[in-house]
Amino acid sequence: MSGPDVCVVGEINPDLILYGLPKELKAEHEILIDGFRLTLGSSSAIFAHNLSALGTHVGMISKIGGDPLGKMALERLAVSGVDVTHVSRTDRKPTGLTVILAHPGKRFILTYPGTMFELNYADLDFDYIFSSRHLHLSSFFLHRALRPKICEVFRQARAKGLTTSLDTNDDPEDRWGEDLLDVLRFVDIFFPNEREAKKIAGTDDLSQAIERLAQLSPLVAVKLGADGAFLREGTNEWRSPPIRVNSVDAVGAGDSFDAGFIHRFLEGAAREECLTYANIAGAFSTTHEGGTEAFRDRESMTRFFRDHLGRK
Ligand SMILES: Nc1ncnc2c1ncn2[C@@H]1O[C@H](COP(=O)(O)OP(=O)(O)O)[C@@H](O)[C@H]1O
Ligand SMILES: [Mg+2]
Repeated sequence: MSGPDVCVVGEINPDLILYGLPKELKAEHEILIDGFRLTLGSSSAIFAHNLSALGTHVGMISKIGGDPLGKMALERLAVSGVDVTHVSRTDRKPTGLTVILAHPGKRFILTYPGTMFELNYADLDFDYIFSSRHLHLSSFFLHRALRPKICEVFRQARAKGLTTSLDTNDDPEDRWGEDLLDVLRFVDIFFPNEREAKKIAGTDDLSQAIERLAQLSPLVAVKLGADGAFLREGTNEWRSPPIRVNSVDAVGAGDSFDAGFIHRFLEGAAREECLTYANIAGAFSTTHEGGTEAFRDRESMTRFFRDHLGRK
């Protein structure tokens, strides 16, 4: 069976992003804000959406509720070309929702997990996963039911010859469990941001953190926000300087970075090219609201990539 290029196992939920909040939020007061955007959010879905927009064939295994938010999120993915035939619906919980208070330089992210906590091992169609070339999982710490089996999923994918990638994102409990280190042994490309790299490696020193993580996964791509990104493979290192953009918000920049990297990786591009492309994708995502809005405008996406690749 020939499936998608990339199978994403993960969560699908919308983001509600609030802009133009006052510096201080006073309780029991009516607080007026400048604007909001309800859009497709969640790390896994943003990755899938944007990777598909870039031209890679993506399929998703996920679980949503039978509510309008789940429907809206699923439609956005489908419009982008993602195969959503392996997304199931449950009435046990509503679809999750993330509310982001986009304070400049001080962002608050409030997540109701909903169906994220419901996706479990029995929901995974392994024939479908194995029909793809690459497995990606995002939001390790938000998959409460699946988490004990994530290592097994990656082990099997690797044994079947798939390449694999993982983006943990934040751990809401700030515990960064040991089980993650076991999973990293089956991960080809690990995508932490700077803070996550340090937390997972258990050190405040970034070089030391990268050193430790590179002992576990062959490729470690560390996202450095407005400072660009860094890639390590064995003893080789590459650095991508930041691209100057008028940034609206950084929601989903990391997931867009991951999508850019995997797009070129599966095309067999050199490591440095994968990093450059990822850095452009991350920067591009910040030019529009949320994590996926930029990638819905195919014309401006094509122009942005052409301009920034040309300038190298
Ligand atoms: N303000 C910015 N200007 C240019 N590029 C950015 C900016 N913010 C993020 N990026 C790009 O997006 C990538 C991911 O962003 P980052 O915020 O580090 O990830 P995460 O969303 O996982 O925290 C960065 O490595 C960089 O390539
Ligand atoms: Mg991230």
